[in-house]
Amino acid sequence: MCGIVGYVGDRPCRDILFRGLRKLEYRGYDSAGISIISDGRFELLHSVGNLDNLEAILDQMAEAGTLGLAHTRWATHGRPSNENAHPHTDCTGRFAIVLNGIVENYLALRAALQAEGHEFTSDTDAEVAAHLIERAFRGSLQEAVAEAYRQMEGHFTCCAIAVDEPDVIVGIRKETPLVVGLGEGENYLASAIPAFLAETRSAIFPEDGEVVVVRRESVRLYDLEGLPVDREVQTIDWDEEAAEKSGYETFMLKEIHEQPTALADTLAERIGQDGEVVLDGLGLTPESIKEIRQIIVVACGTSYHAGLVGKYALERWARVPVEVEVASEFRYRDPVIGPDCLCIAVTQSGETADTLAAMRLARQAGARVLAVTNIVGSQATREADGVLFTRAGLEIGVAATKTFLTQVLVMLLLGLYFAEVRGHLTRKQVRSYSDELRNIPRLLGDYLADGAAEHVDEVARDYAFNRFFMCLGRNLSVPVAMEGALKLKEISYIPTDAYAAGEMKHGPIALLEEGSPVLVVATDSFVYDKLISNVQEVRARGARVIAVASEGNEALKEMVDEVFYVPRTDEMLAPLLAVVPLQLFAYYVAKNKGEKVDQPRNLAKTVTVE
Ligand code: G6P
Repeated sequence: MCGIVGYVGDRPCRDILFRGLRKLEYRGYDSAGISIISDGRFELLHSVGNLDNLEAILDQMAEAGTLGLAHTRWATHGRPSNENAHPHTDCTGRFAIVLNGIVENYLALRAALQAEGHEFTSDTDAEVAAHLIERAFRGSLQEAVAEAYRQMEGHFTCCAIAVDEPDVIVGIRKETPLVVGLGEGENYLASAIPAFLAETRSAIFPEDGEVVVVRRESVRLYDLEGLPVDREVQTIDWDEEAAEKSGYETFMLKEIHEQPTALADTLAERIGQDGEVVLDGLGLTPESIKEIRQIIVVACGTSYHAGLVGKYALERWARVPVEVEVASEFRYRDPVIGPDCLCIAVTQSGETADTLAAMRLARQAGARVLAVTNIVGSQATREADGVLFTRAGLEIGVAATKTFLTQVLVMLLLGLYFAEVRGHLTRKQVRSYSDELRNIPRLLGDYLADGAAEHVDEVARDYAFNRFFMCLGRNLSVPVAMEGALKLKEISYIPTDAYAAGEMKHGPIALLEEGSPVLVVATDSFVYDKLISNVQEVRARGARVIAVASEGNEALKEMVDEVFYVPRTDEMLAPLLAVVPLQLFAYYVAKNKGEKVDQPRNLAKTVTVE
């Protein structure tokens, strides 16, 4: 939520900052701005709307300055406008700041600063940071930022520059991301790695409350008292190409097609010689796994759906009760959990504020906490007892695709691992699943290479202007239907609901009329016949049915209007394939409507506010 990039070096930085922002646009795109120190003063540029609007006016700013900050915003306090766009400056125009997150006590701070005569020019919470730094500055930006940080409550990342110290950027974080990129004779500060991935792979991940002082030739970290802190330099192994569209029309389409590789990478080294599941980083001994009496999965959005698939796997295979709850509810529910509970936080970004809060709550209650995340160094990895990484690579499309599939895969692996440790599946049984899991990347690759997208596109054309969709499933295909519905909502803006098909008769069937489109996830399953009865019921009300089915199920063709066939696999693994035509369907419905799929309105990829 909001993207920050800062640069200091010996190159003119206007375009470097802008290119960095482009890579962070998925974090927010309602307004943007750049501030550069040039000839002892700030040059400032703000624009409303996405980065195309900033680009259009970029040459109003001189190119010369070699130190600056830039920001792309997802509005929390104050509507998108030039005044509310970052960077913000203080009353004297000597300090500029960018901020991601929320300063919770900003109203009190603002009132106190105003009483002292400070004049505010925006409605944002962020602007207080500029005035606090102005008030605290005694010749050292590092000390002023530390002082401002002490006074601000909430969770935020703040970076500041000062005309009085034109060679330094100071950054600080509190529960939201900040990463330093180390170059040769130049350095970066950013809210995410893609901002500088084209320039360097060396990074430092500061901890909360560490003051990061970045100059052309050095990066130093200090605690709030000014004592030096050491942090290891890490090497990022993401491919720079990951941040490019590589010939695809959108990031989302590229990421859908990257799913076979993402699955193969996530699987690599996780299946041993004998077919056993290997989960390095799990942070749980076999003894502690046997002691678990309850699992709570906490997550938001798409990750919640991956958690639901995990519930079916963990309960069926490992015979342990699992609850899956959206993190924003769990955190305020006063849940009954204790030391025999394992909390699994599923979060691709590792930064979702509600999921982090849910993890903390579980930990306070004595539960062990496991994070399933895609981002090395993210907050979730710092707070969990164990971490299982999905290896989806960088995902830029706001609507999650490959991170979802890899989360589902990790949850399935976890189910198999727990099942064997707890004695509910034999090695032989585990091996038959793990052998089949190894096939999935190839099956999906063949499916996508075989014209799947083109077929779905053709079908989607007929449905692009429907008023609503309904998605149905049973058992493991319920979370798949839910994820398909979420994709449709997110990028096509067509109201879509998902239901367990058995619930239809208890209300939703009343919505159907002649021609209503219903998507049914009907891959092979022990409840297939039950689901087909539900298909007949909706057909009898005149619905047009589009089914996702297992290859070879010719009989279904006669019963429904369209079928998207996916390769056959074990029904427990079917979500890994069945969701893909639904992702493609949502994609092409949105494209055919002319929507901007990579930047759906009102959404952001990383939600660092509650
Ligand atoms: C946002 C994104 C979704 C994502 C959700 C949870 O709403 O737009 O795509 O599923 O956050 O994010 P997380 O990073 O915790 O998986």
